[in-house]
Amino acid sequence: MKRVDDFRLRFGKRELVPIMIGGMGVDISTAELALEVARLGGIGHISDAMLPTVTDRLYKTRFVKDKLQQYKYNVANSDKSKVQFDLGHLAEATHLHVGHTMQAKRGDGMIFMNCMEKLTMNAPRETLRVRLRAALDEGIDGITLAAGLHLGSFALIEDHPRFRDAQLGIIVSSLRALQLFLRKNAKMGRLPDFIVVEGPLAGGHLGFGMDWAQYDLHTIAAEIQQYLQAEKLDIPLIPAGGIFTGSDATSFLENGCAAVQVATRFTVAKECGIPEKVQQEYFKASESDIEVNMLSPTGYPMRMLKNCPAIGSGIRPNCEAFGYVLDANGNCSYIDAYNREVAAHPGAKKISVKDKICLCTHMRNYDCWTCGHYTYRLKDTTNRNADGTYQILTAEHIFHDYQFSTGNKVALPPQHP
Ligand SMILES: Cc1cc2nc3c(=O)[nH]c(=O)nc-3n(C[C@H](O)[C@H](O)[C@H](O)COP(=O)(O)O)c2cc1C
Repeated sequence: MKRVDDFRLRFGKRELVPIMIGGMGVDISTAELALEVARLGGIGHISDAMLPTVTDRLYKTRFVKDKLQQYKYNVANSDKSKVQFDLGHLAEATHLHVGHTMQAKRGDGMIFMNCMEKLTMNAPRETLRVRLRAALDEGIDGITLAAGLHLGSFALIEDHPRFRDAQLGIIVSSLRALQLFLRKNAKMGRLPDFIVVEGPLAGGHLGFGMDWAQYDLHTIAAEIQQYLQAEKLDIPLIPAGGIFTGSDATSFLENGCAAVQVATRFTVAKECGIPEKVQQEYFKASESDIEVNMLSPTGYPMRMLKNCPAIGSGIRPNCEAFGYVLDANGNCSYIDAYNREVAAHPGAKKISVKDKICLCTHMRNYDCWTCGHYTYRLKDTTNRNADGTYQILTAEHIFHDYQFSTGNKVALPPQHP
């Protein structure tokens, strides 16, 4: 019986354990998690979501305070079009996080950065350009273009000295999205180095509509594989979304996929950024506690735990401090929803917004509990402590379980003494 360890992912001369841990913003896929995965010979991701906010916490910078100070005058104004990121600060934050991470890297694996196009930051092209280039400057091994079609992203870094040497890949949820990307970038003289095909059971934002349940990862992956073969395109294909056991992963590898991307199992690792109290909520969840909804102001469906504090919170938009979801004109659908509720409840001290969430504030506070479909199976991957809580795992344990397990089994961790 084959197992994941019988396969290798090849990038040029490099050989990797074919397990990639997906990017999880905001700092859920921490540098610590990515470094551990790289040490074990796989690929770990850091995320560049809300990096100035993340570096304030990790490296004691003052980017959020400075931005809030600069735009304080605008806090009560519903027009956020003036609230812009300082591109120098954005570059500095990216340099800091990527630089620190890459300097700490050990082992044969790689570290990639997940970069979401939907974080439009009130200047989509300019901010994306800075984020991509700063990561390349600091020696990131690769970049995964996520949450968007990224039709113009290669052009933003085409003249960067590392454009041809870093591993650059794209996440798609359909053959059509991949074809668009390839067509648009045909003149770059450079194909993506890998393609992640993300199915409807993934965590975070989904590349499907609310009819997501009608789609199936195996079918989409097979369609893309046939297309790549027909076009004689030798690009590693990496499926993601609902791959919960080593056997799930092996079945994709046996069908010709180059590696798998996984995330949910690692949300309950000690190296993961989710606070332990919230990790216990992930463990406790049953299938009916998880929903896909349209609460994210990005316009994409998002999967989350129904009991997370973000839902129904009527917090004032925090764009002067954050503002990562503001579109090219400084709009965000949470601001509209919030203003509508304020107008409908004059004089109310507290309001509740039910149809949208303030994604920036709640992701930063770990109050928006986005999760994968199989989060309800996490409780079966660990032991119960004497006090009824669940034992937090190590990334090494989970990684090795994917790498070596067979027969659809999940190995439990050694019990606390
Ligand atoms: C908590 C969480 C946060 C995520 N955040 C992001 C993100 O910021 N960007 C992204 O491209 N994908 C994100 N994802 C998707 C994962 O990178 C990955 O592709 C997917 O969840 C794999 O499926 P699995 O969780 O069933 O293993 C997130 C997933 C989870 C569970």
